[in-house]
Amino acid sequence: MKPLPLRALAALTLILAARSVPAQPASPFPTADLMRIGVYYYPEAWPESQWARDIANMKKMNLEFVHMGEFAWAFMEPTEGHYDFGWLDRAVKLCADQGLKVILCTPTPTPPVWLSQNHPEILMIDANGRQMLHGTRQQATWSSAVYRGYVGKIDAELAKHFGHNPTVWGWQLDNELSHYGKEPDYGDASQIKFRAWLKAKYGTVEALNRDWGNSFWSQMYQNFDQIRLPNQAEEVAQMNPHSILDSQRWFADEAADYLRFQTGILRQYCDSRQWVTTNFMHMFPMVDPARSAKDFEIITWTHYPAHGNLNEGPLGFRLGSAASMSFYHDYTRTLNGNEGLMELQPGQVNWGEVNPQPYPGAVHLWIMRAFAAGAKLVCSYRFREVLSGAEMYHFGFVGTDGVTPTTGGEQYAQAAREMALLRERYRPEARMPAAYAARRTAILYSIDSRWDVDNHKQSIRWDTIEHMLRYYRGLKELGAPVDVITEDKDFSAYPFLVVPADQLVDAALVERWRDYASKGGHLVITCRTGQKDRRGHLWEGPWAAPILDLIGAKIRFYDTLPAPVAGKVEADGQAHDWFSWGEILEPNDGTTELAHYADQYYAGRTAAVTRPLGRGTVTYVGVDTQDGSLEARLLRGVFTRAGVAVENFAPDFLVDWRDGFWVATNFTERTQLAPVAPGLPLLAGSREVPTAGVTVWQE
Ligand code: GAL
Repeated sequence: MKPLPLRALAALTLILAARSVPAQPASPFPTADLMRIGVYYYPEAWPESQWARDIANMKKMNLEFVHMGEFAWAFMEPTEGHYDFGWLDRAVKLCADQGLKVILCTPTPTPPVWLSQNHPEILMIDANGRQMLHGTRQQATWSSAVYRGYVGKIDAELAKHFGHNPTVWGWQLDNELSHYGKEPDYGDASQIKFRAWLKAKYGTVEALNRDWGNSFWSQMYQNFDQIRLPNQAEEVAQMNPHSILDSQRWFADEAADYLRFQTGILRQYCDSRQWVTTNFMHMFPMVDPARSAKDFEIITWTHYPAHGNLNEGPLGFRLGSAASMSFYHDYTRTLNGNEGLMELQPGQVNWGEVNPQPYPGAVHLWIMRAFAAGAKLVCSYRFREVLSGAEMYHFGFVGTDGVTPTTGGEQYAQAAREMALLRERYRPEARMPAAYAARRTAILYSIDSRWDVDNHKQSIRWDTIEHMLRYYRGLKELGAPVDVITEDKDFSAYPFLVVPADQLVDAALVERWRDYASKGGHLVITCRTGQKDRRGHLWEGPWAAPILDLIGAKIRFYDTLPAPVAGKVEADGQAHDWFSWGEILEPNDGTTELAHYADQYYAGRTAAVTRPLGRGTVTYVGVDTQDGSLEARLLRGVFTRAGVAVENFAPDFLVDWRDGFWVATNFTERTQLAPVAPGLPLLAGSREVPTAGVTVWQE
């Protein structure tokens, strides 16, 4: 056989390579697009004669997409089986005329009145046995097969109608899936599904009795049909913690199943170009975004940082919590690689106990923090301030006259303008700077452990999320990029791994931690970790038995202090206050004490330890301090001993790198200095970053 000429060979190789690598569908969120900015609009709430003006004004504000329809079921299906999308067609067309993309929504949080009237069984039952009524939102239960039937029909009609419309960019399912604190539904449909879930999990009622510890107080069940969703309003004394944990798992599974059900319908009729998501609520514990990670192209969420709660620092009530906001970005981003804010506060809101004005520039600060954290889109509720209804007094992008931009609207316009500029400066070859990459840290986040700790806190002064944020803040002061990861992720990608209060463990997980450290990782484990097995049982053995060998210490006992008592814990000669949780440790040989208690009857005994393990280290912090200052100090020690150079940023001055851009965001009440190398030009802001200021530069 005559050898092929070189050029032909090269061509053949290319063909073969092209055959063996399946073509990757284009990402709906190309890196070069950085972050798209848009807004909610409710055409059904305004005279049609104003739509064209409003949408043109959105374009003038540099916005790129419009979000519509999540509450419009009464307009989409005014009477049963009669669908009307004509009005929505016209609104979508007006967006297309302006070059704006559209996110459409399934209108499922707000069933129309005819549906609730004809099928009251779709309405949820609250803890006190009361049926919720038509009138607000999220009153229907998604465990009802009847409700799902109607949802399936409206979703299919919408998808058939808009699934090939080139203006429709993607879909949001429902809205903030929840019952706004009244969950779960205690109606029959939910009770039946909960029992079926338990049966599938345990197989026999004997297994359930064993795992729920039902020999206590004669809780023994004889068959699954005797079980009801745990409900404190129906029970006299403390509820069984295992039944609560299982009901939380069931509820989160059921919510994910409902979202999957809707996604399946959309995917049946829509172009693969259109993506699907839902807007999860910031930190809301009952619906678990991780359970939907594989179902959606992007995980989005809703965030209202400033509504009167004090947060950190004297200006926290106007600036929100930098750590809490950033932590959730860093969590949602890792779930499937794409995250965004579907709702970000546009200004003053109407539903807080107090509703202060955000700090001047705060809205822009929040948008740019989302950018720094890697968000692919930021959208806001909503364009126009309403003149009637439950959400009067809530800011929009334009005020009550419908045309004058609010301060919030102006800040969105500014951010959208900046984004266009940054896109021009985007360089695909930019790589994460080495010094920053060397500080990459994962925080392990387990919803199961969060539930379990919160179900049985042992002290009302304990706050699980705050506990995690103390470490998060400490890491951001060091200038570390943080991924908040779930257990299924690979730990080895991170030089540092923090495991905060991960109460429910098994031998396999502890082994993975051991392996991680042995191979050179720096592992930081915090109090309450490893106290129970996955069922939520304490170990028959020493306290936190499975982790003791790994941490190189014993945990003799723990203490919690009632208000207003605060204990003292000392490290490097500095005292820190604590009260929510303190474990009294006893280090093994080869383990070094890092902190000890300075008062109470156990003064002098150990509170935190570290030890080498293989090529890495294991640090255990048995105490939770009031302000996280000990945690920050101990983290700094871990990084320093590992030989990794760190920053010394003020708490809440967050500096991150994303796709070639450095972004400094100042949530403190003082001017901070952006760490820009001399001579580098700034793309936004100034070297001296004022409160609520943002500075962007390229290296
Ligand atoms: C969100 C909700 C929106 C709107 C907004 C008001 O939580 O998803 O529909 O109610 O709050 O701030």
